Amino acid sequence: MMKGKVVHLGLFGLGMVGGGIVELLSRKKGKKDHHKFILEKIVVKHLDKERSVPVPSHLLTTDPREILANPEIDTVVEVMGGISPAKEIILEALKRGKNVITANKAVLARAGSEIFKQALDSDCYLGVRASNIATYRLIESLIFSPFQFEKLIGVFNGTCNYILTEMEKRGEDFSPILKKAQEIGYAEQNPSDDIDGYDTAHKLIVLLGLALGYFPPLDSLFMEGIRRISHQDILFAKELGYRIKLLAVARREDNELEARIHPALLPWGRGLAGLDGIENGIELRDEVGVEIGMQAPGAGKYPTATAILEDLVSVAQGRKLIYPQPKRYLTLKRMGQIKTKYYLRFNALDEAGVLAKISGVLGDHNISIKSVLQKGENKKPPGVVPVIMLTHQAKEDDIQSALRKIDNLRVVKGKSLLIRVEQGIL
Ligand code: HSE
Repeated sequence: MMKGKVVHLGLFGLGMVGGGIVELLSRKKGKKDHHKFILEKIVVKHLDKERSVPVPSHLLTTDPREILANPEIDTVVEVMGGISPAKEIILEALKRGKNVITANKAVLARAGSEIFKQALDSDCYLGVRASNIATYRLIESLIFSPFQFEKLIGVFNGTCNYILTEMEKRGEDFSPILKKAQEIGYAEQNPSDDIDGYDTAHKLIVLLGLALGYFPPLDSLFMEGIRRISHQDILFAKELGYRIKLLAVARREDNELEARIHPALLPWGRGLAGLDGIENGIELRDEVGVEIGMQAPGAGKYPTATAILEDLVSVAQGRKLIYPQPKRYLTLKRMGQIKTKYYLRFNALDEAGVLAKISGVLGDHNISIKSVLQKGENKKPPGVVPVIMLTHQAKEDDIQSALRKIDNLRVVKGKSLLIRVEQGIL
């Protein structure tokens, strides 16, 4: 069996994940294996903070140079989070010839190309498994497969999946459930990163970067979060045979790439639609039609620390980073050009001719209706009822201009809601 080398580590960050890494490294000590990891230094923000794991005080410092400028340290693990100075530390470590292992999807999503190029130029290992813990076991197959993916969909954010599941279970709207998620620590006090789709976008960009050698710019992706989903929508979707998830969708057709993040209706009872609570999952189909999927935890101390340790073992084994070589020239499809099916919710006056008016506008825009659901009397505000329509496949540009017209009809009150409908892959 291949004998591993001794790895001298510098760790940036000793929060939940950093503590998990220290704990798992000490659990591994004395176990029969061929690798030895020596933790040389840990950079923290505050030296005197109480720690969840015992750490000798001589290991702690607040000065990044104690790792970056130490020639004994050959591998840097970055789990401090945030964009700056994490990005600068990653790049500096690579420039100094140190291997880097990072969980930082926000940095990779913004600077993936630059970071991978630096790792290549410096001939260093760059471990990114922990940036996508729910899906990293598929990463090598995405990179090595002779066939590119044709479509992938993913539920990559546990916070959103938890909130949507609880809304369904408890029959409550978004705001009270978000509050509860914040109280138990599943959602941040500023929850925007999760619920507005940024975290999902970061993970999708990193996956695409690894699969295609192309990290699409964050602001070029269509991104919509879950704030506008109501408990009513969850119930209507259920009645129509669907469940609502915050979905990452990527589809590749020749040189054109579609990449978007938004809530979506998925057929009930299959694949990702079955994910409950904080679970994450992915389904993908390649260009020859092979379909696979997996479900895995998307966050947490041990899942993240384990992914870091797997990268550390790769370093110890002297493995080379699998670099994402650009496979083809890709252009990003404009959102208005995508085609999918739609769930539409209108707040309409309950009077004669309303459905005809709405469906007339849809018809004028080449949008064909598959089914209609109208819920009975609603006294608040008087005479306004929710009308739900499912469409056949339509073009996003057409749907958007139809909705602008419909929202201006006298018989429609307030802004209509649109949720895209995806078929799922498995
Ligand atoms: N905040 C993320 C989630 C986990 O809720 O899934 C870290 O990416």
